[in-house]
Amino acid sequence: MIHQLVYYSRNTVPGGDRAMLTNMREILTVSQRNNSRDGVTGFLIFDKTWFVQILEGERVRVTGTYDRIARDPRHIGAAVIDVRDVPARLFPNWTMGGAMRTPEVQEVYLQHGFGGPLDPVRLKSGQIVDLALDLQAFEASRRQGQRLAG
Ligand SMILES: Cc1cc2nc3c(=O)[nH]c(=O)nc-3n(C[C@H](O)[C@H](O)[C@H](O)COP(=O)(O)O)c2cc1C
Repeated sequence: MIHQLVYYSRNTVPGGDRAMLTNMREILTVSQRNNSRDGVTGFLIFDKTWFVQILEGERVRVTGTYDRIARDPRHIGAAVIDVRDVPARLFPNWTMGGAMRTPEVQEVYLQHGFGGPLDPVRLKSGQIVDLALDLQAFEASRRQGQRLAG
């Protein structure tokens, strides 16, 4: 069984879009290094206000990773929405696929009924997982398109 943890937190990464992306790249680089070592995969959804992350892997690894993340000063108020065991990883990418909410992915949000800002406080983990699965698929098809075009 794969352990899956879903949490949200408030983004306190300073700066405008550009600074935010630089900071996020740093977070993702470290995440990729640690997560590939620990067998942890997942998905990170973020905008200027919120982080919502799904972590998957062995229970002790997922818990250890979350404990480290929760102490990070780049966000506050980390709150676990759900933990459960799933038969297989839903987010198998080592890269901790990250999706910033940009106009390009807006259509995916709209398909899930999120026209306005996300409010993870009111979301159910199932809604988050479904949104993340479609964002993951959108990312994959975009990458595929780029490969074909290149
Ligand atoms: C929103 C957010 C998500 C993060 N996700 C991960 C993650 O998936 N894996 C990870 O190792 N660190 C993640 N981090 C970074 C950790 O908080 C921490 O800085 C890092 O794990 C420390 O790694 P080090 O001890 O190797 O320097 C995340 C940080 C934030 C703010």
